[in-house]
Amino acid sequence: MLQTKAISSKLLRWNIKGFATARVTYIESACDSLFVNKKEYKVNQEWTNVTPTILNLTARALFLKNNHPIGILRNMIENKMNIIDNSYSIHNNFKPVVSTFENFDSLGFPMDHPGRSKSDTYYINKDFLLRTHTSAHEIACFKQLKGTPSDVKSGFLISADVYRRDEIDRTHYPVFHQMEGARIWERGTEDKENDSIEPTHITQMRKDIDKLHKQLEKEETKIIVQDNASLDDNPKQDYMTDLEVDLCQQHLKRSVELVVAEVFNKKIQSMKQSKMNQDEIPKELKVRWIKAYFPWTAPSWEIEVWWQGEWLEICGCGLVRQDVLIKSGYAKDSTIGWAFGLGLDRIAMLLFEVPDIRLFWSLDSRFHDQFQKNEITPFVPYSKYPGTTRDVAFWLPDDNLEVEVHENDIMEIVRNVAGDLVEYVKLIDEFKNPKTGKTSQCYRINYQSMDRNITNEEINKLQETVRKELTRKYNLEVR
Ligand code: DAH
Repeated sequence: MLQTKAISSKLLRWNIKGFATARVTYIESACDSLFVNKKEYKVNQEWTNVTPTILNLTARALFLKNNHPIGILRNMIENKMNIIDNSYSIHNNFKPVVSTFENFDSLGFPMDHPGRSKSDTYYINKDFLLRTHTSAHEIACFKQLKGTPSDVKSGFLISADVYRRDEIDRTHYPVFHQMEGARIWERGTEDKENDSIEPTHITQMRKDIDKLHKQLEKEETKIIVQDNASLDDNPKQDYMTDLEVDLCQQHLKRSVELVVAEVFNKKIQSMKQSKMNQDEIPKELKVRWIKAYFPWTAPSWEIEVWWQGEWLEICGCGLVRQDVLIKSGYAKDSTIGWAFGLGLDRIAMLLFEVPDIRLFWSLDSRFHDQFQKNEITPFVPYSKYPGTTRDVAFWLPDDNLEVEVHENDIMEIVRNVAGDLVEYVKLIDEFKNPKTGKTSQCYRINYQSMDRNITNEEINKLQETVRKELTRKYNLEVR
């Protein structure tokens, strides 16, 4: 039976895989400790699943490079967010290892959330992991913001590389980049001096929203917003008034729309300068707000942008749960605010017309020399090297053995053996033998280099190693 898989969102959802997983014995020799960013961590048979390939990528910090598409995009968004009143402090130096507590527990992730599973997350050991999202640093930044006068900073932006075990194809890489944003207002008392009966924070929010509207009006690209997301099963928090929810969400949504306007405006300008058919260039931009669920915000939303015939999901957000603010040191009922998390890689691929996410990680100067700070220019392919496919098929052992093998485990083996020479890995066939009850799976691997020609001999060797590793690590019966 051949199954197809829905394309899962890299940014927002943890995908729950539909394919069979089998219980097999995991044979891996372990050493006692490993080092990441010069810090030593104890490893543990049951939890450790980071690999040297992934750990090596923690040193790259692409988002900090001013001439790299991800770095250019980050810069652009930071500047735009601060264009109105410079309210956001910038945090770009958080290290990728965080505690399980920071990444999940402190944000209210339930114990059975799929994101916590070893098949989706790179664990250093039970207590430490490679962050799966920039939200892991929200509380640390809220704490810092708490000590800063609100007329100096009332929000923050965090950019970082984030890590998730995932499939291998042109738009998925185990490391990608996110930008987190947040903004708060401390509740005030009635503003008697201004002859107003409204509390000061409400007056302030109205002013802040007004500034955003004025800024949006100045933008060249007009945004058509569809927002039918009701609060029916996306309830507000009791401690916020209806008016506060309304103003807070307006500020959040207009801020995110400003980022969208900036990014796509730059793209449209770059398209106008190109030789492309000018009728194909969009004159306006359609976005829609849909309701969502995140454990640390309520209500929550996602924004999607209509681009070249499809809705692109680019950002999740919501009004920060009071519990998170209290953990950050704010007194109960004292503060309200919003947060968002934006995926940078998909947007950068679209802006710079980068066809394969592996190119971001290439060390080839023919890629890197093409980009410059503050400029959006389409990537010019230097060459398309041919690819070659190989299939590998195996029987999964019976269900009653000890440890599970997941589709992401197969991806990881291939990635460790062949690195960025793998263009994609796909499960192309799966069936159960009715007599033996055993399940067979067949994966297709496409080997292709971004930078050079590959030889059959070289690929045959890699393929043989993949086969051996499947047997060695998971005891699979390769056919
Ligand atoms: N961290 C979320 C993700 O990776 C994105 C996100 C959603 C961030 C809502 C937020 C938020 O700050 O409020 O899927």
